[in-house]
Formats: sequence, C-alpha cells, structure tokens
Amino acid sequence: MYDFKPDAPLAAEELYRELLGAADALTAGEPDAVANMANVAALLWEFLPDLNWAGFYRVAPTRDGAASELVLGPFVGRPACIRIPFGVGVCGTAATSRAAQLVEDVHAFPGHIACDAASASELVVPVLRDGAVIAVIDLDSPTPARFSHADAEGITALATLLAHRI
Ligand code: SME
Repeated sequence: MYDFKPDAPLAAEELYRELLGAADALTAGEPDAVANMANVAALLWEFLPDLNWAGFYRVAPTRDGAASELVLGPFVGRPACIRIPFGVGVCGTAATSRAAQLVEDVHAFPGHIACDAASASELVVPVLRDGAVIAVIDLDSPTPARFSHADAEGITALATLLAHRI
C-alpha cells in the first residue's frame, strides 16, 4: 500500500521534488501505460491543492482512424469531453505548440473547452517522446490564476519523467 501524500503544505520546489519522487517510484519498471497514468493522476490529485480536475489526454486515432487527436485518458475529477482536435482548446493548443499553456482565466482563452463549469484556471503540459507529443497533462482549478510558473516547471519535469512510461 502506498501512502503518497504530503503531510503539510509544501513550497513548490519541495512539493515537486516529492511528487516526482513518488511518480518515479510508482511507475518505474511498470510497462502498462494506463496503470501509470492512473496512478500519476491520483498523485497529482493528492499532492496539488485546489484542483477540480487532474489527468491525461493521449494522442490516439480519430474514430475513423484517418488521423490523430487527443483522447481522454486516466483522470480524477468530473467526467470530461472525450475527444479534442489538435489546435482546439487549451489541451489542443498545448499539443500543437508543444509548449506548456498556463491560463490564468480560462474564460479569456479563445476556444477554451469547458468540461466543468467550475474551472477558472488551467495548466496543460505536453508529454514529448523523441520530440513528438504523445499526451498532455491537464490540471484545472476553480481558483483564478491558481497555477504559477513553478507549477509549469514542476509538471514539465513530470512530463519528462513519464515520456517513456506512458
Ligand atoms: N479545458 C480543456 C478541456 C479538457 S477539460 O479541462 C478536462 C481545454 O480547453 O482543452
């Protein structure tokens, strides 16, 4: 049984050091991508305060198999939209640009996809493998401007750790 949860609120540097250590321990040597994404979604939920959604969208075939898009993966939170085309919304923008999207006010983001009306701010980080996007990590918060550059750096480090584990 794992008990991966900080005992007290931590400063960002320590928080992400512990989060990455826990993610490393949980996913090392486990080849099943779904299991690893599920455990990391749960870790994000345990470690990061003030979230209403934490999880993954994976690059996967469109329904007709003719192209690729983002498809819902393991997460914690309310049921969410299943398919997001590249370039659409915060997740699709992160996938297309291959750059983290730190959005202080989702209502001001052109094309933002509102899966949960409670969401006010969002951080989406692409997971790159050999330079190609294979997934994005998506965090939503009911608090405006919840995420900082330290969060973006920490989640980017997590994405690097997971590049060959999901
Ligand atoms: N808000 C996201 C959609 C995914 S949900 O937040 C879980 C977006 O605009 O891409």
